[in-house]
Amino acid sequence: MSRSAHPAGPRHADVLPEGHYSAPPADLNALDPKVWAHTVSRTDDGVVRVGGIEVTRLAEEFGTPAYFIDEADFRERARAWRTAFGHDADVFYAGKAFLSRAVVRWLHEEGLNLDVCSGGELATALSAGMPADRIAFHGNNKSAVEITAAIESGVGRIVLDSFQEIVRVAHIAQSLGKRQRVQIRVTVGVEAHTHEFIATAHEDQKFGIALADGEAAEAVRRALSLDGLELVGIHSHIGSQIFDMAGFEVAARRVVSLLAAVRDEHGVELPEIDLGGGLGIAYTSDDDPREPHEIAKALGEIVTRECEAAKLRTPRISVEPGRAIVGPTAFTLYEVGTIKPLDGLRTYVSVDGGMSDNIRTALYDAEYSVALVSRTSDAEPMLVRVVGKHCESGDIVVKDAFLPSDLAPGDLIAVPATGAYCRSMASNYNHALRPPVVAVRDGEARVIVRRETEEDLLRLDVG
Ligand code: LLP
Repeated sequence: MSRSAHPAGPRHADVLPEGHYSAPPADLNALDPKVWAHTVSRTDDGVVRVGGIEVTRLAEEFGTPAYFIDEADFRERARAWRTAFGHDADVFYAGKAFLSRAVVRWLHEEGLNLDVCSGGELATALSAGMPADRIAFHGNNKSAVEITAAIESGVGRIVLDSFQEIVRVAHIAQSLGKRQRVQIRVTVGVEAHTHEFIATAHEDQKFGIALADGEAAEAVRRALSLDGLELVGIHSHIGSQIFDMAGFEVAARRVVSLLAAVRDEHGVELPEIDLGGGLGIAYTSDDDPREPHEIAKALGEIVTRECEAAKLRTPRISVEPGRAIVGPTAFTLYEVGTIKPLDGLRTYVSVDGGMSDNIRTALYDAEYSVALVSRTSDAEPMLVRVVGKHCESGDIVVKDAFLPSDLAPGDLIAVPATGAYCRSMASNYNHALRPPVVAVRDGEARVIVRRETEEDLLRLDVG
């Protein structure tokens, strides 16, 4: 595999076309610690390394495309959340962001709980030894099979999402001779400032039961009346990739006011509230995410204040960060293939993956950063669009970014902050083989999810 730098023709447009980018960064070789995993740095010869291993070595050993996850960074971020929320609160990592058995073990060791939203995630968690009572089971359309598996395994809580589900879970629990701990997910009616597809607290969407019009109060009434259920709390998740704390504060206030109404009506003080996940991370240098301790402080204060005002005991708070823990800890490594300069527009840089390993750009117009990682370069910046190898013009990985103009086929480039919702939303489109996830730590690299093979694809094709 050649990594030499061959100038590939004039590609720097004098007048930049419209796009998401600001100006070219002052130093194309710099790696902004906001968007890269903690142990990522450049060696003296310019090659980027993670966990003490050069990406050139990783590419040789594991191939490209591949996701590399910085295990020390993952553990550090998990611990930071755990420490920030302390012993009076619980942190449930949202497995949908990325789940594997190794990740479950890391979480268990770091003292976090786990939120799962399907039978598959539950099976993964249990098979890696996560104690069932530290698992919360979510979903807006859980099947009877999933509910049965969750109750039989002894999950700590099921988050009820609809009136039908209240009855369904109660019946299944009763038929198994159990009383299931549950929370009710409410929609608090705030507009979170994020992409429409990942905002979940406004009323016109599929999740939860509306606080407005007394729907949630009615759901509480029903849940309290059913023998198979032990109602322990109220749950709210307002959306994802959110930077502004205001939405969480409104949600916390409204959830506490429901707790007060429940106390007034039933004489019961529900002991838990869950404020969901959704904290944003930096995908580019323009993003400024909040730290876990700031979030814990803000949420703790608002809940305590509102509870004091309503003369309620402060409930146990839990949160469900997914992206904020795993997102920044991984990057995707690609090999550069075809480079196509389009005069006056931009240069299309094709890589050996694409929308099958990162659908977020196509789906949410997400922004990413990119860097040349197999060497440094002093060449002029060129405006690029990093695209994949799929048969679709929307197959874009990084919409607008700058790379050195001597970029050449065979160079390695990496897209940071791909730990969340990339491998977990990966597909086999065009019969692409889903890339491996390799954990790197202290000079050692270990595959935690292996690369798919053609045999894997053909095994499912039984016609
Ligand atoms: N809790 C619940 C109930 C959720 O539905 C979610 C995410 C989370 C926690 C975790 O949210 P996080 O902290 O990771 O933002 N595929 C989209 C994100 C969908 C999020 C779905 N629910 C994306 O790639 O941006």
